[in-house]
Amino acid sequence: TLFKKTSKTIGLIVPDISNPFFPELVRAVEDVTNIYDYTVILCNSDEKIEKEKEYIEVLKQKYVDGIILTTNQLELAEVSELDVPVVVLDRPLNHSFPSVIADNYGGARLATRHLYEIGCRRIAHIQGPLHVVNAVERFKGYRDEMQELGLWDEDLVILGNYQLNQTKEAVLQALKEHEIDGIFAGNDVMAVGALKAVQQLGLRVPEDVAIIGYDGIPLTEMTTPELSTISQPIYEMGAIAARLLVKKIEGQPLEQIHHVLPVKLVQRQSTSKGE
Ligand code: RIB
Repeated sequence: TLFKKTSKTIGLIVPDISNPFFPELVRAVEDVTNIYDYTVILCNSDEKIEKEKEYIEVLKQKYVDGIILTTNQLELAEVSELDVPVVVLDRPLNHSFPSVIADNYGGARLATRHLYEIGCRRIAHIQGPLHVVNAVERFKGYRDEMQELGLWDEDLVILGNYQLNQTKEAVLQALKEHEIDGIFAGNDVMAVGALKAVQQLGLRVPEDVAIIGYDGIPLTEMTTPELSTISQPIYEMGAIAARLLVKKIEGQPLEQIHHVLPVKLVQRQSTSKGE
């Protein structure tokens, strides 16, 4: 008889656990897989494709029973070669693997429309890294909404990297060069960077520049002013992905393969003018 080697472990590859979005996601994966007696091996890829590949090799050598990938850098060929069950989480991969993502395009339109509705007309967008599919989706949502409003101006697009460092500098630069009265940041960490930059120039939030982030991490409630955000159901995303993976490992049928969860607008002080 052939025995398939199992280890009761699963691998979880995330880009950067120091971004507070990911601890919540990881917590959910761990909570749910623990119920079924699996242990999670956590890997940080730092948004680097080489690290992703290395980790996949290591996870295979450890005979993990399945992998949850929060990445979108792997080529189709590479992921197809994986002979363990895989679930894609948060960042869609161009593949038929089961997936759990949130509505990135819709969320970006919602954020942009919200800034418009509170009176902003020169709305800038801080993009996430362009190799990340959901950063591109958010950019498209912003662009389409701006075009529909007749406000599109490519000078208002600021390239960010989903991290705090650089974002502040990039926003300082943009504020010096362009007239900007609203900022939609592609994630909350960058919204914090934008807030710092705006305040450093002596401008008021939201009166001079309104700011909205994306993710819904607790940090947004701890800034002054508190930051508005598009909140993703982070824990739920992780929990659904974990359940899908366990089912796949245990050979159970999946009722639904691709999940796109809704996001919601959380309005706080950074976009509340005179209310
Ligand atoms: O803040 C980290 C970002 O990367 C999140 O918006 C999440 O969706 C991820 O892809």
